[in-house]
Amino acid sequence: MEKIILDCDPGHDDAIAILLAAGNPTIDLLGITTVAGNQTIEKVTRNALAVCAAYGIEVPVARGAERPLVIPQMVADFVHGETGLDGPDLPPATFELDRRHAVDFIIDTVMSHEPKTVNLVPTGPFTNIALAIRKEPRIVERVKSVTVMGGAHTRGNITPGAEFNIYVDPEAAEAVFRADWDVTMVGLDLTHQALATSELQDRVRAVGGPISKFVLDLWAFIGSTYESNWEFAAPPVHDACCVAALIDPAVFTVAKADVRVELHGEWTKGMTVVNFQDAPGMHHDAGSAAKQTDFRTNVAMTLEWPRFADQIVDALTYLTEK
Ligand code: BDR
Ligand code: CA
Repeated sequence: MEKIILDCDPGHDDAIAILLAAGNPTIDLLGITTVAGNQTIEKVTRNALAVCAAYGIEVPVARGAERPLVIPQMVADFVHGETGLDGPDLPPATFELDRRHAVDFIIDTVMSHEPKTVNLVPTGPFTNIALAIRKEPRIVERVKSVTVMGGAHTRGNITPGAEFNIYVDPEAAEAVFRADWDVTMVGLDLTHQALATSELQDRVRAVGGPISKFVLDLWAFIGSTYESNWEFAAPPVHDACCVAALIDPAVFTVAKADVRVELHGEWTKGMTVVNFQDAPGMHHDAGSAAKQTDFRTNVAMTLEWPRFADQIVDALTYLTEK
């Protein structure tokens, strides 16, 4: 049983990450925290509460940061729509928010559980996680693992080099990658393999019922924005990949790398610079010679798509039959 806190900005793929976590009996979803990202903090928090209320997911939901650490806020309405979860009809959010700020919820939860038992799963900008480290640095040695959706090592999606979650709050991302804990980076190179293909959509349709319809409506909307923005034939289910790895680490392979976030580049701001192997020529100039490499981030590489697809179908079946 893996205990997780899902720190998210729902968001179509965040919503599926919530369903996967709630619908897999090996995951103990301790709580959901929200962060401004795909839409404003008001909208993504409303979406998290509405998904939980609609499908009987009774876990605390705590509202978090309304803007990035340093730079102005931006939203992804061109991907997730005006509400952040355009497409399905969701009933009003009848569940109540936890009274704590997300940062305090994360700190309280990590510090009140046994050391090395709580996993953090950030699937929006990493603002809440960076603030939690700043407010209570002891969480770093106490957390079991951090599995982030963010970054890329071949191409970005919001600029040629940068992925959205990192680009929105690069300073927070750098703080999370630099902290001395066990981090897995689930970036675009992995999540672009996790497509909601017509085969997966047919299997979800066969589950039947309101949750199946909700997921298909999510994919219909985001499928159209992925097609118009990036010419994808099927939408990636980015954020669910992080939960999938906590259910079954064999769902993807990893390679160790030193990951740095570009904070200043004119063309590269928000890019994850992923160094898999030091080559002798890399340090020939005096500036970089002084830099220490640190190959400790697990970078997700190759997805076992059938295992991933089975997990999604199994979770939706479990929630439907519950
Ligand atoms: C990430 O950005 C968001 O739009 C998605 O929810 C995902 O977390 C993909 O770049
Ligand atoms: Ca997200």
